[in-house]
Amino acid sequence: MKFFATTTKGLEEVLADELTRLGVREVVTANGGVNFSGSLKDGYRACLWLRTANRVLRPIASFPCPSQEALYEGVYALNWNELLTPSMTLAVNAKLRDSEITHSHFAALKTKDAIVDKIRDNCGERPNVDPKDPDLRVNLHLARNHCTISLDLAGTGLHRRGYRRDPTIAPLKETLAAGLVALTGWDQSTPFVDPMCGSGSLPLEAALLASNYAPGLLSPNFGFQRWTDFDVSTWNELLEEAETAQRELPANLVFGSDRDKRAVDMARRNAESAGIGARVRWSYNDFAKLEAPADHGTLICNPPYGERIGDEVELEAFYRKIGDTFKQNWKGWTAWVFTGNLALAKRVGLKASRRIVLFNGPIECRLLKYDLY
Ligand SMILES: C[S@@+](CC[C@H](N)C(=O)[O-])C[C@H]1O[C@@H](n2cnc3c(N)ncnc32)[C@H](O)[C@@H]1O
Repeated sequence: MKFFATTTKGLEEVLADELTRLGVREVVTANGGVNFSGSLKDGYRACLWLRTANRVLRPIASFPCPSQEALYEGVYALNWNELLTPSMTLAVNAKLRDSEITHSHFAALKTKDAIVDKIRDNCGERPNVDPKDPDLRVNLHLARNHCTISLDLAGTGLHRRGYRRDPTIAPLKETLAAGLVALTGWDQSTPFVDPMCGSGSLPLEAALLASNYAPGLLSPNFGFQRWTDFDVSTWNELLEEAETAQRELPANLVFGSDRDKRAVDMARRNAESAGIGARVRWSYNDFAKLEAPADHGTLICNPPYGERIGDEVELEAFYRKIGDTFKQNWKGWTAWVFTGNLALAKRVGLKASRRIVLFNGPIECRLLKYDLY
């Protein structure tokens, strides 16, 4: 079976590494995702374990699609009766690029019409649409008049881990946070610190990684569990395997701090709802005053960068202060700054030994590495 896991632009290699470690076959990176092949069990496993995938798609058909008629006919021709019954609900997501059909909403509607017409023609009744929580989410990808129809295994974005109780103003998407943690190459045995943790996404993803906690265990309610071909015993086997694979997070390994007490309280609540609250060390402090918990370790921060919160002039001074604090208080550490403002990043005043381009939604960002020897 072929699959395509989608991810944030810039994280394709990280996701490919994750997939390779899961033991799936034919892992090939593409723009915005990774192709792989494997069994249905591998597809379930991908939803349960992948930390950086947004969706896991199973392509079921691909055909030329130069017009709306071709779209309708191509979709209608597929064997939807194997996948849907009239009592199931359905939703269609569409993404278009460089094609005759230019409106994704229209393309989604046409696809939906073809599917429900097919079921009605065969069964006399049609399935209903539920855009929020459908039993089957169908994904349409139309590029240069060529269409790929896929089933969305999870049916919901995998970044919705379910631990986020009250998001702060600018939380990182969980899958992006997990990707940043992976890119730091943190060894999981020396301390990991986020001194501007906001709602705690980075420490939480680090904690989940170090405790070998399958992120899908946090809210194991996936679309494929409602499909006609759902293999419950395989799924239960995978859940059991994931439960036993967990290990306790060592104390004094993962730290999150922020100067905003509200944010720290939120991060703590998020950690509690993820079931790892007691082991992450949360504190409430200004970064300049925070003491390094060891001689060396990994520090990562996602300071405000003016796009959504904060003010440019004040931020320039703040980024200078970040550089000074690195030099004074964090000697021996590897520090990483994730920011969407390159001009501000220069104010850190230290030479970055690595610069990784990533996207936070539409914002082009950099993850910058500073070796503080
Ligand atoms: C962009 S947000 C971080 C979001 C976080 N990564 C998340 O996913 O929720 C920036 C954070 O830096 C914090 N911050 C700003 N100045 C700070 C300082 N001097 N010391 C510590 N934290 C600071 C803010 O309170 C805010 O929570």
